[in-house]
This record gives sequence, structure tokens and C-alpha cells, in this order.
Amino acid sequence: MTELGTVVWPPAPIRTERLVLRQSEARDRAAFIELFALPEVRTYLGGPRPRDELEHAVPELPGRRPGLFVVDLDGAMIGTITLDRRDAERPGHVRPEAGETELGYMFLPEAWGRGYAAEACAAALDWFADGLPGEPVVLCTQTANDRSMRLAAKLGFTEVQRFEEWGAEQWFGVWSPVTASG
Ligand SMILES: CC(C)(COP(=O)(O)OP(=O)(O)OC[C@H]1O[C@@H](n2cnc3c(N)ncnc32)[C@H](O)[C@@H]1OP(=O)(O)O)[C@@H](O)C(=O)NCCC(=O)NCCS
Repeated sequence: MTELGTVVWPPAPIRTERLVLRQSEARDRAAFIELFALPEVRTYLGGPRPRDELEHAVPELPGRRPGLFVVDLDGAMIGTITLDRRDAERPGHVRPEAGETELGYMFLPEAWGRGYAAEACAAALDWFADGLPGEPVVLCTQTANDRSMRLAAKLGFTEVQRFEEWGAEQWFGVWSPVTASG
């Protein structure tokens, strides 16, 4: 597995107070389509994709890959968390060899404003830090994305730099267990 180095994938489902982080299942397909079709979710992620296009493009078992957690509330998917390798060609890095692990998150709007994203991301970061101690995790978000900016700060990400990309100002930050607890 290249994306997450030596971490074993998939892990056993990760349980938090209210949520479960697990691999995707075929029953999550409709929620995956929603995440990519809803304008509110895609405002800062390049815009929504047409539903009919998604119905054709999204596989029967979507999102089954290392680093992608489905966030499950009472048996239903409410969002995804991803830990992927950051493209070396893109701006924003914290080490010369690049290839850092990058956190991403997308939640369905009905699940916003309840602390679910923060709870799930904190659990994913803890899991990652246990598997790869000392390995930094980076995050990139548009500065205009207020909810995402608040979440990044709450999780303990600290700013490394800001830059322009895709016609918008981007905030690039880094997390490490030391940063988060200190
Ligand atoms: C970014 C995103 C995940 C943030 O979701 P969120 O629900 O706002 O984030 P949190 O889980 O931190 O929840 C925070 C809110 O829950 C509230 N909350 C309610 N109950 C809570 C509880 N028990 N514990 C913690 N917070 C709670 C907080 O007060 C806060 O409210 P506020 O937004 O009014 O300040 C979500 O907006 C999203 O999916 N956006 C679309 C995708 C996207 O842009 N992703 C970013 C890519 S870089």
C-alpha cells in the first residue's frame, strides 16, 4: 500500500462517542452521489457534478480504497474522511521530498453543525498517529471556507502558508500529535 506507508488497511472500524469510521459499502452509493452533486458540499471543491453523470460514473462499491473512511451515524453514511498522499506538483509542502499525507473531509449538509466532522477527523488523526508516529498530516482549504477553517483550527492544524490556486486563496496547514497536544 503506497498511500499510507506501512499502516495496515483497512483497520477495524474505529468507534467514537457517536460515530463509526469504516470502509465503504455498496449501500453508501446514494450518499456518495449526494456528496458530489450537492452545491453546498462542493462550493469550495470545484462545484457540483451533474447527478446523471454521477449515476453512471460512481461504481457499485464506491470509495473502496486505502485512506478513505466512511463516517457512519446510526448505520447511515454522513460523510467521508480521506488521508491521501499530497501531489508533489502542487504548492504547499512541509518536507523537501514532498508526498505528505493530506487530510480531506466532506459531510452531508444535514450533518453539519453538530461536531460530527470534528469528532470523526480527530479519531482518524489519532489512528494515523498511532500507526505512523511523528508523521505530519497536512491540510489545504480555501480561506473563504469558514466551516473548514474553523474545523482545521479545532483539530490543531497550524498555518504553514497561504497561496493562490484555482483562482482562490488557499490555507495550507500542518498537524502533528505534538502540535495538537501542545
Ligand atoms: C467542512 C465541514 C466538514 C465542517 O463541518 P461542521 O459540521 O461545520 O464541523 P464540526 O464537526 O467541527 O462542527 C462544528 C459545529 O458543530 C457545533 N456543535 C454542535 N454540537 C456539537 C458537539 N456535540 N460537539 C462539537 N461541536 C458541536 C459547533 O458549535 C459548531 O457550530 P458552528 O459551525 O455554528 O460554529 C462541512 O462544512 C463540509 O462537509 N463542507 C463541505 C465540504 C468541504 O468544503 N470540505 C473541505 C475540503 S478542504
